[in-house]
Amino acid sequence: MTSTIFHGYNKKIQGKIKVPGDKSISHRAVLLGSIAEGKTKIDGFLMGDDCLHTMQIMRQLGVRIEKDGESLIIEGNGIDGLSEPADVLDVGNSGTAMRLLIGLLSARPFYSVLVGDASIHQRPMDRVVLPLKEMGANITGRADNRLAPITVNGRKLHGIEYDSPVSSAQVKSAILLAGLQTEGTTIVREPELSRDHTERMIRAFGGSVTTEGMVHTIVGPQKLTGTHIKVPGDISSAAFFIAAALITPGSHLIIENVGVNPTRTGILDILQAMGADVALENERLVNDEPVSDIVVRHSSLKGAEIGGEVIPRLIDEIPILALIATQAEGQTVIRDASELKVKETNRIVTVVSQLRKMGADIEETDDGMIINGQPGKPLKGGNVNSFGDHRIGMMLAIASQAAKEPVKVDHAESIAVSFPGFETLLESVR
Ligand code: S3P
Repeated sequence: MTSTIFHGYNKKIQGKIKVPGDKSISHRAVLLGSIAEGKTKIDGFLMGDDCLHTMQIMRQLGVRIEKDGESLIIEGNGIDGLSEPADVLDVGNSGTAMRLLIGLLSARPFYSVLVGDASIHQRPMDRVVLPLKEMGANITGRADNRLAPITVNGRKLHGIEYDSPVSSAQVKSAILLAGLQTEGTTIVREPELSRDHTERMIRAFGGSVTTEGMVHTIVGPQKLTGTHIKVPGDISSAAFFIAAALITPGSHLIIENVGVNPTRTGILDILQAMGADVALENERLVNDEPVSDIVVRHSSLKGAEIGGEVIPRLIDEIPILALIATQAEGQTVIRDASELKVKETNRIVTVVSQLRKMGADIEETDDGMIINGQPGKPLKGGNVNSFGDHRIGMMLAIASQAAKEPVKVDHAESIAVSFPGFETLLESVR
């Protein structure tokens, strides 16, 4: 275990930075590049632990992937270019890798076993196993096929029409990746729109998926063609720096080249409603993905009610939003966010317990949390724990901006899951 001490009380945040590549887009780029025909070049690929696991797995499946400086070069041989792996496939800490690969592999004519770390082995896989079984897949796992390790005996599938009970891009994507290889029509409907990177990227690789409202349709089988993908910075990583600047007097920060896909920008909508001075500049489209620079200045904030359709659009930002709310005037209520319980940790429990340890007025509810902001009152430093959850680790590191004493974060090594270089970048703007 690595513990890191963060000490940044009132140190203003200034400068112009870039954050590492988007995790969701990086996973999809390496997956789709590996099943496309011909060469794919990926710039800005996130060299974080999660995406490196996906890259390694595609190599185990027989795909040639080389690093060329900052880029990845994939020599795709089409979907039939994948071959049976000789060993288990290890996703590490990555739910996205596990769930998207279950979908992809369920229609390949070979046997594979997916494993991960202790956290992954507790996270629900039935949300993808059940619809894929409806398509005819042969998938087994621990605990009545709910938990990893997961075994996939790939075979020919048939299309389905599936009503997903959860708004999860991982569920939607697993079904679309199976549908891509399946004769006929596959339809997936979700309660609220989740991130749509898979749909956009299938189109960038020359394939077709249509979306009408919450209904996504794919007609298979389809062939994809290799292409050049430029991965923008991850708004979920940028959010930690946006927060640091917002809560620290005198701050002015520019974050260049951030993905601002509307299915991901719930955090910006809520921060603006809380009174934050956050603006987008230089907006453009790259590989059909909206990209922008984000300019943020320290702001006096007020609490907000957060629930409903915005939740899937900011689900990964709720830990940092909770910290921001401790520094806002009045009450913030977060509801409809039960999905937090099945992330890398139960984030309702980890956020509330660790921020309370730092002196925040915050309590758990069934589907979220309630925070009473105390803007004038510094947080307390001391020893806190990420519990191996990268986003909890980074939230606690940023909390040191508002804490008088140093903040010692246990299991800080988990930050490398999505944000290699986080500590150095934070030091560079303080
Ligand atoms: C992701 C989808 C979200 C998100 C995760 C990445 C993706 O999970 O929390 O960090 O890349 O598809 P769910 O699909 O479980 O909501």
